[in-house]
Amino acid sequence: MDGLTEKGRLRLEWAAANMPVLKAIRERFEREKPFKGLRVGMALHTEAKTGILALTIAAGGAHVRLASCNPLSTDDSVAQALRDVHGMEVYAKKGESQEVYYRNLNSVLDMKPDFVIDDGADLIAMLHTSRKEILPGIKGANEETTTGVVRLRSMAAAGLLEFPVMAVNDAQMKFLFDNRYGTGQSTFDGWMNATNLMVSGKSVVVAGYGWCGKGVAMRAAGLGANVTVTEVDPIRAIEARMDGFSVARMADAVRTADAVITVTGCKGIIGHRELENMKDGCILSNAGHFDNEIDKEALEAMSQRVEKVRDFVDRYTLGDGRRIHLIADGRLVNLAAGQGHPAEIMDMSFSVQALALEHMVKNHGKMEKGVHTVPHFIDENIARTKLASMGIEIDALTDDQRKYIEGWEEGT
Ligand code: NAI
Repeated sequence: MDGLTEKGRLRLEWAAANMPVLKAIRERFEREKPFKGLRVGMALHTEAKTGILALTIAAGGAHVRLASCNPLSTDDSVAQALRDVHGMEVYAKKGESQEVYYRNLNSVLDMKPDFVIDDGADLIAMLHTSRKEILPGIKGANEETTTGVVRLRSMAAAGLLEFPVMAVNDAQMKFLFDNRYGTGQSTFDGWMNATNLMVSGKSVVVAGYGWCGKGVAMRAAGLGANVTVTEVDPIRAIEARMDGFSVARMADAVRTADAVITVTGCKGIIGHRELENMKDGCILSNAGHFDNEIDKEALEAMSQRVEKVRDFVDRYTLGDGRRIHLIADGRLVNLAAGQGHPAEIMDMSFSVQALALEHMVKNHGKMEKGVHTVPHFIDENIARTKLASMGIEIDALTDDQRKYIEGWEEGT
């Protein structure tokens, strides 16, 4: 086994050891084979935790193909170990060009999957555009992230989505932990790895106070930053203010920002106007799904010089001499410059994936085309197994308490 394969094998082993819920699911799948004879095409960040999900689905009897859902998020050691040690068909390479990225997604679709697991909805979009010939064979899909679910809801509203999709992102055991605590921690893992700089004492602006933004702002504050939040939703803006953060318009906030982290799922958060106002030396990064939150074309157009100053940091020198730094080309900082969410977090998210797929396989015949919520019993099962794995016991309602809560006669 060469060095890279061995490194990937150990990374997979480390992730698996910290994913107890998925382990229990995998052991059951090995016995019950719920996916026997099925083809499952996956486009997710190809790194260790995803590897464990792919192996779990394969353990359930499926033929699995995996590509990355982002050209920069592959861990090559893991991709190689999945191929060499586990014989899995993996189409992903860190830093692949846009052309290779789409070729790899096409390779997944070439297997004519029965079910797909997507992250960001590129695979599902291709099934409705360039690869329509495969569409009739698709029985259903899972979608991992907020941006993908938003895209699919738009497709469904326009009457264009041709099969049922489970909104894995919207399960409580996903977004409450993955988006908030996962993105919160891993964004700074990537940011600090890329810059080797202090967070403490810096003015950090977080764009978007959704589930991810809350986590990023919370961790920035915990690391000692002075945090400002930007929002377009007035309720979330008040939430940020009452959580103790400053709230401002982006065009104003950038005047004093040492770092800006975008995590909105929207585009053009940092554009020409914001760059005009930006403090010299500011470090820009993005944790939202697509790399369009920071307008790179505007940045390039305003720059006289671009230099790669560290592995994941480009320095743009603007016409007036100000220097703006961009991490990982504006792609997901936690995956492109870091190692993604902690394994304990992905244990929960990917358990939702595995059980949502099982539910879809059993029920797709009765499910309408469109976006579906993951049933609550799946969330609750995962939560109970996770608590048990953490050695935590909780109380249970007594019969008397249940009657009280469910009834209305008794007030005091
Ligand atoms: P969310 O919908 O809970 O929150 C997004 C927030 O951004 C909302 O409060 C919205 O009002 C705000 N927003 C939208 N446009 C804005 C603008 N122009 N300026 C300021 N604020 C704006 O979404 P969530 O779950 O927080 O996800 C955000 C993004 O992060 C999505 O693209 C999602 O796919 C991605 N994501 C990334 C992860 C990672 O590992 N880096 C993990 C999970 C999600």
